[in-house]
Amino acid sequence: MAVRPKILVFSGSIRAESFNARLAALAVKAIALRDGEPTLISLADYPMPIYDGDLEKAEGVPEAGRRLHDLMIAHAGVFIASPEYNQSVTPLLKNTIDWVSRIRPDGPRAPTPWKDRIFALGGASPGYFGATRSLAHLRHILTMSLGAWVLPDQVSVPSASTAFAPDGALASERAQAQLDGVVARLIEEAARRT
Ligand SMILES: Cc1cc2nc3c(=O)[nH]c(=O)nc-3n(C[C@H](O)[C@H](O)[C@H](O)COP(=O)(O)O)c2cc1C
Repeated sequence: MAVRPKILVFSGSIRAESFNARLAALAVKAIALRDGEPTLISLADYPMPIYDGDLEKAEGVPEAGRRLHDLMIAHAGVFIASPEYNQSVTPLLKNTIDWVSRIRPDGPRAPTPWKDRIFALGGASPGYFGATRSLAHLRHILTMSLGAWVLPDQVSVPSASTAFAPDGALASERAQAQLDGVVARLIEEAARRT
């Protein structure tokens, strides 16, 4: 039987009408169409206080951070839909990454959520730049600080308030082509790591 790589998908926004949650939902559909096995989560289900070294010292990494850490390790790929706040990632996404990054591997060969899987990025914003500045920062965090492999291609959805059709599909052929291309590559790379 062909390998069905497991891909974790989440948005850096938990806003009810989030454009990035819509993009994440479309990534899930595209992954399933290409015989990947998507898991869609909301960071609302992984609540963590703002990172504080004293809190970490007293209580360790929150249980939600440990759950997310283990879930990431159980997947061969991760698709993150990142909004853009002041040209960077949301505090929710940064805080989540910061907490999970505090969990150290048990030994030199222990899996980590970052190094042993492939990441793909997408972003939607109402403005002209389509969250590309936030994706650049997210790419920097994942690759330069955490040593993750991140696909060079990414999905950018500008003018997000008009970019989604009423059925949730992307109105722009360009953005849909980007999503299809990124997901195809994500599945291919994740399959090699499965
Ligand atoms: C604090 C803050 C800063 C923002 N800065 C930017 C920005 O730099 N560039 C941009 O395109 N949109 C910016 N926005 C608008 C967001 O892109 C918009 O709220 C978007 O809908 C957020 O993503 P979501 O729909 O997934 O929640 C900002 C919004 C907030 C709340």
